[in-house]
Amino acid sequence: MSLSPRPESGPGRIFEVGFGFWSSKVLLTAVELDVFTTLADHPMTGEELGRALRLHPRGIYDFFDALVALGFLERDGDGAQGRYRNTAETARLLDRNQPGYVGGILEMLNARLYGFWGDLGAGLRTGRPQNELKRGGRSMFETLYADPARLEQFMVAMRGISTGNFRALVEKFDFSQYDSLCDVGGATGLLSTLAARRHPHLTCISFDLPEVEPIAKRWIVQEGLSDRVSTVAGDFLKDPLPRADVITMGMILHDWNLEKKRHLIRAAYEALPEGGALIAIENLIDDARRENAFGLLMSLNMLIEFGDAFDFTGADFQGWCREAGFREFEVLHLEGPCSAAIAWK
Ligand SMILES: C[S@@+](CC[C@H](N)C(=O)[O-])C[C@H]1O[C@@H](n2cnc3c(N)ncnc32)[C@H](O)[C@@H]1O
Repeated sequence: MSLSPRPESGPGRIFEVGFGFWSSKVLLTAVELDVFTTLADHPMTGEELGRALRLHPRGIYDFFDALVALGFLERDGDGAQGRYRNTAETARLLDRNQPGYVGGILEMLNARLYGFWGDLGAGLRTGRPQNELKRGGRSMFETLYADPARLEQFMVAMRGISTGNFRALVEKFDFSQYDSLCDVGGATGLLSTLAARRHPHLTCISFDLPEVEPIAKRWIVQEGLSDRVSTVAGDFLKDPLPRADVITMGMILHDWNLEKKRHLIRAAYEALPEGGALIAIENLIDDARRENAFGLLMSLNMLIEFGDAFDFTGADFQGWCREAGFREFEVLHLEGPCSAAIAWK
């Protein structure tokens, strides 16, 4: 399967990336229209699926067959008799009624970032955010907290993007010598619940803003882990962090400029005992800034969202942590482009 119209003739890779938004938008729209959830129970002909999704007949076969060609649907038979169904992967990951649903992040890409990335050039020229702020709105987090439906969507999106990385962390990091963990900016409490389930000796705190606390409480109850996972509401830019042997920050530091990154690292240092560990889970850019394209694109996304926020390398993290007093460092690869940058006090 190639996305390029002329894969053999030279510009294949250039075209693949250049035309990439076509296939991206087909997948995002399929999630928006609930194609994969609609196909969860039984295969459908194009006409049946088009009707169920309330689509105009003009586009239905192009749309569904593009999803087949891109590898996101299967089709048994051809033409009007052909029946579309999910692949094993889309049945597991893109049916919103499945526990493994990762479409939340795709919904957010479609609803917000797809449009905002249209102004990447303006972001590069001005250094200024290109999201709601540009249209006189409030910052990304303020916008989210003002609208419960959007906040829920963002929280589900974060679960989609973070689950694999957090699972890898709780497998790979040696928690045996620690009793407590505080996940700063813990959102739905995902990392705390995964760590508590995998390591029965751990007690965990999920720390986030007051608006997020009821959402985290709900997930923690649903996971049946309220005895060892609690929530603390607070503002990590103003309040001291809860004390714990391990402090984790999943995609937190990249949301802020250098001054606030340093503030958060100092706050973690204050809250840890001697020998305690700060773990930043990020799409850590390789030190030479040549390889982790996703990490670099994520940093451009931080320009779109915040202007002065940025992603960073393991060497950057080590430098800031050393200034704060941390003594030992390690980078632990988690999954795909994501790593854990670890600093010990
Ligand atoms: C990018 S999300 C990361 C969520 C989660 N750690 C993960 O990796 O999936 C950032 C989180 O930081 C929280 N947050 C933002 N500003 C905060 C503040 N000033 N104090 C506490 N939490 C904050 C948000 O509510 C959100 O849950």
